[in-house]
Amino acid sequence: MSKSYYITTPIYYVNDKPHIGHAYTTLACDVLARFKRLDGYDVTFLTGTDEHGQKVEKAAEVAGLTPQIFTDQVSQNFQDLTKSMDFSNDDFIRTTEERHKAACQEIWSILEKNGHITLGKYEGWYSVRDEAFYTETELVDGKAPTGAPVEWVEEPSYFFNLSAWQVKLLEFYEQNPRFVGPESRFNEVKSFVKGGLRDLSISRASFKWGVSVPSDDNHVMYVWLDALTNYLTATGWPVNGPAGEAKKHSRLWPADLHMVGKDILRFHAVYWPAFLMAADLPLPTRVYAHGWWTNNGQKISKSLGNAIDPNQLAKNYGLDQTRYFLMREVPFGNDGDFSIKAMVQRMNGDLSNDLGNLSQRVLSMIFKNCDGIMPALPINLTNEDKALLTSADALLEKVRQHINNQAFHEALRVIWQVVSQANRYVDSVAPWALKKTDPLRMAEVLAVLAETIRQIGILVQPIMPRSAAKILDQLVVDSDERDFSVIGGAARLANGQKIIKPEPIFPRYLDES
Ligand code: MSP
Repeated sequence: MSKSYYITTPIYYVNDKPHIGHAYTTLACDVLARFKRLDGYDVTFLTGTDEHGQKVEKAAEVAGLTPQIFTDQVSQNFQDLTKSMDFSNDDFIRTTEERHKAACQEIWSILEKNGHITLGKYEGWYSVRDEAFYTETELVDGKAPTGAPVEWVEEPSYFFNLSAWQVKLLEFYEQNPRFVGPESRFNEVKSFVKGGLRDLSISRASFKWGVSVPSDDNHVMYVWLDALTNYLTATGWPVNGPAGEAKKHSRLWPADLHMVGKDILRFHAVYWPAFLMAADLPLPTRVYAHGWWTNNGQKISKSLGNAIDPNQLAKNYGLDQTRYFLMREVPFGNDGDFSIKAMVQRMNGDLSNDLGNLSQRVLSMIFKNCDGIMPALPINLTNEDKALLTSADALLEKVRQHINNQAFHEALRVIWQVVSQANRYVDSVAPWALKKTDPLRMAEVLAVLAETIRQIGILVQPIMPRSAAKILDQLVVDSDERDFSVIGGAARLANGQKIIKPEPIFPRYLDES
């Protein structure tokens, strides 16, 4: 039985249409999920929608719909996005589902039974936009530190004894140095916890749109306790609940990776592990916080109306091109600025000129000069041949390391080093000139190149599944010979098979204005 890998995206608030920021988090998970599947793991990739709380309730009110009808509609937009972006999630969870309510009530009951919940009164600031509580001292010019408006709240509330978990959390961080990435973000988390933790209000009594507290239906559970629990729900937990599945749960839990944006790291790296410890459940292996996209230097926001629609981008510039750009342009973990100019440069440079031309040139020469029959690798490789194949063979290990560190941009950078090396090899051995002088050598050179492109094609599948499939189809690679067990020199491209006339895979985008 292959090793299990369970990866999650945050679940998205259904207050608005999905934009590029949402697509970005899920795309990163999709790339990881696809990579791990090709690397032999039994992957479970979860995404979904966060449908309770005041923010969603208010958005429904503005839309003039009941929360249930409203959330059904908006959740559908996120489900549609998974299809249109080629996301390969195995499950899509909605927090309004019965299986999830059962999990929320179970975790609450355990926390209560274990003595970690007490009834009190919350008096303080609350930001509906952030769905977060703030103290007076945290406010900046009367607003949340995120810039979100706050309102004064005074109501009965149940509290979780978060303050009691400070030492245990710090010990856990110490023992698990890879728990949070990137490291700079982990340091922020540690200093936040070292600064002392206050007990956390985990119920609201002033509205109804949420999961009821099991022992007191005057309260609904705080939307973040509800939302975080989704990661457990989807594993079949509680195992004696309506969707319970003991085997699935023990295979999946603890999760291997929670991917989140930097804005919600505290919830995942402080509150969530504290809830889990208090409920005697194992903690996830890793939480990774990526950065934020701005649009031409401006924060993407509903009020500025500058949200970028990922479907529109894919429609105008190509889906794989969009996926490639988002993963390549900005070092994962950093903030980045989106501009069409940068995207077109990447598409034309890295995709059309570098990879596209390489495969088009090589396959066209095979088609024209080798009667369309895939040539065989030389029995005795020249030093130049060896240098290129050795670089191609070494790629998987390098890419794997970068992917395991969520350094997608680095993984692509090292792949493109080999693309450039292959292009330099073409220029230096000039197969078109060999056509007349040494046709046998020409065929060998083309075979070395085709083998290099095969390895690159296999490795770019997680980022650009459709284009990679076209490259591998053009090379006549069997569909069951496209995983990582057949690269790195473990196998070579078969020769003798007939190829069809190659079509360019990455057209040049002409309007660069
Ligand atoms: N519902 C909570 C998450 C609960 S998880 C148990 C939530 N939802 S959200 O819809 O507001 O955000 C979801 C994700 O989208 C976050 O990871 C957030 O960082 C990401 N992004 C939203 N806007 C973004 C950008 N402009 N850029 C990059 N990612 C951004 O928070």
